[in-house]
Amino acid sequence: MIEVKQVSKRFGDFTAVRDVSFRVEAGEVYGLLGENGAGKTTTMRMMATILQPTTGDIEISGFSVQRDPVEVRRRIGILFGGDVGLYNRLTARENIAYFGSLYGLEQARLQERIDSLSRMLDMEEFIDRRVGSFSRGMKQKVAIARTLVHDPDVVLLDEPTTGLDVTAANNFRRMVARMQEEGKTILFSSHNMGEINKLCKRVALIHKGSMRFAGTLESMREQYGIHDLDDIFMAVVEGSEN
Ligand SMILES: Nc1ncnc2c1ncn2[C@@H]1O[C@H](COP(=O)(O)OP(=O)(O)OP(=O)(O)O)[C@@H](O)[C@H]1O
Ligand SMILES: [Mg+2]
Repeated sequence: MIEVKQVSKRFGDFTAVRDVSFRVEAGEVYGLLGENGAGKTTTMRMMATILQPTTGDIEISGFSVQRDPVEVRRRIGILFGGDVGLYNRLTARENIAYFGSLYGLEQARLQERIDSLSRMLDMEEFIDRRVGSFSRGMKQKVAIARTLVHDPDVVLLDEPTTGLDVTAANNFRRMVARMQEEGKTILFSSHNMGEINKLCKRVALIHKGSMRFAGTLESMREQYGIHDLDDIFMAVVEGSEN
């Protein structure tokens, strides 16, 4: 469960996130929508305790990012889109194991986790090969396994399909479904309404740091009286210019 409670983040005199609140239930795939610069990454970085909120708080499975950051870190996995930053000279298994050891997992437990993730993500053929020669899609599987190695309750996916082709993006969405079957609570950020529509029933829409909407895609259509989700997005973006 993720509970965002009136969170703001200021950088100097610039407010990147303003009074944002929403709640993601356990086992849900929830969408965080917004155009470039909306504040999606900043919000996720606060959830992951990489940044501290200026005001407000976020709870991850009941633990406060302000008061219990260590407990939060144990329960959260984060994956950023774009360059996933792996060690090319290490094998997939070694890359994942390195991360797992940072979380203090014991060797036996760690290898068990890697084998199970390798099965779940169809990585068995290349798990013991060096990642230097991997395709973008293969590297991303390694990055997903790294995100999940400590078996977090909550998974933050920040524009994870950036740079993937259509097939790899589709495969990625299938993996999100598998993560959900495993009981993960997932927050998926995107600026792409179509992608959010395929994955999520409920979304939060932020624009220039402020919440514009939170609820089901159906109620969003009703509220704006527009069916097409891209048109709703444009109405929100343009409506706020004046
Ligand atoms: N460390 C920082 N210092 C100053 N400003 C920052 C910092 N990090 C982010 N910002 C600003 O905060 C705003 C929100 O940025 P953020 O990266 O959260 O947006 P985003 O929704 O993730 O956008 P994108 O879709 O481009 O990834 C932007 O205007 C950005 O320039
Ligand atoms: Mg971002």
